[in-house]
Amino acid sequence: MGSLAGKKSILMNLKDRYAVFGQPIAHSKSPLIHQIFAQQTGQSLDYEAHEVSAELFSSAAETFFAEGGKGLNCTVPLKELAWAFADCKTERARLGKAVNTLSVQADGSVLGDNTDGCGLVRDLLINHALMLTGARILILGAGGASRGIIAPLLEQSPRSIVIANRTVSKAIDLAGEFQDRGAIAGCGFNALNHSQFDLILNATSASLSGRLPPLEAGLLAENGVCYDLAYGDAPTAFVRWGRENHAFKSLDGLGMLVEQAAEAFYIWRGVHPETRPVIELLNFQRGENQP
Ligand code: ATR
Repeated sequence: MGSLAGKKSILMNLKDRYAVFGQPIAHSKSPLIHQIFAQQTGQSLDYEAHEVSAELFSSAAETFFAEGGKGLNCTVPLKELAWAFADCKTERARLGKAVNTLSVQADGSVLGDNTDGCGLVRDLLINHALMLTGARILILGAGGASRGIIAPLLEQSPRSIVIANRTVSKAIDLAGEFQDRGAIAGCGFNALNHSQFDLILNATSASLSGRLPPLEAGLLAENGVCYDLAYGDAPTAFVRWGRENHAFKSLDGLGMLVEQAAEAFYIWRGVHPETRPVIELLNFQRGENQP
């Protein structure tokens, strides 16, 4: 019996190990999502969530990889630190100045990637059948969450992207960094008067505390769509604003969460999992039918 148990534990240790680091992390849906992806694709792996503070990130990541960990997801507040930790970075991670996916390479080095923007675009295009080409897009906020989505959105050839931020200089500076990639400008919220947008993305952290940036009712074009990068069990303040302002769809970031996880899974395992059943399950679990 003893030796069988011993063999079993050795076999279990042979499973490739992955984890998500962040703070707070207790309510992370990533372990469930990756467990379902693994079942779906017949992959054998472990995926755990670990509460890791910014101060402890670097040593925790080093220990994780030294002990044979294959890949890490990094979430708030660690994405910039993960960017600095990575030995090398993909172009989209370099542009976003943030990393949400670390993976060990054959030579032992750690590659940093950012799957957030790609996850958002896939959710919009594939899951919600929305057209970004020619769209007038407004991004609220000019922090890390905004930075990561700009290049993937510009790749879809929208008519324009406007970044509006409470601190105006940050919006102007951020737009300036991407101006050679498409039509993009930065401004303050009060400069949006009389403008209309087909898609408004909330990338401020205001929604998390139930607040909203100051938004005029007429900002949303007819059939316009609202999308909050944040998500919650109840509709966020911005999702509610979209509904009150007759958005064609008013969505939160649950689909983006699953899509960015699927892209990370692909980077690690070389297989694309199916995202739709996972999104449906998570929507079912929170007892809410998103429009
Ligand atoms: P993240 O990495 O999640 O984007 P961040 O870098 O702290 O976080 O950026 C948060 C964004 O939310 C910023 O654009 C911030 O505006 P400022 O640059 O002016 O600080 C925005 N934000 C936070 N609270 C807000 C509020 N109550 N109203 C409007 N914007 C807010």
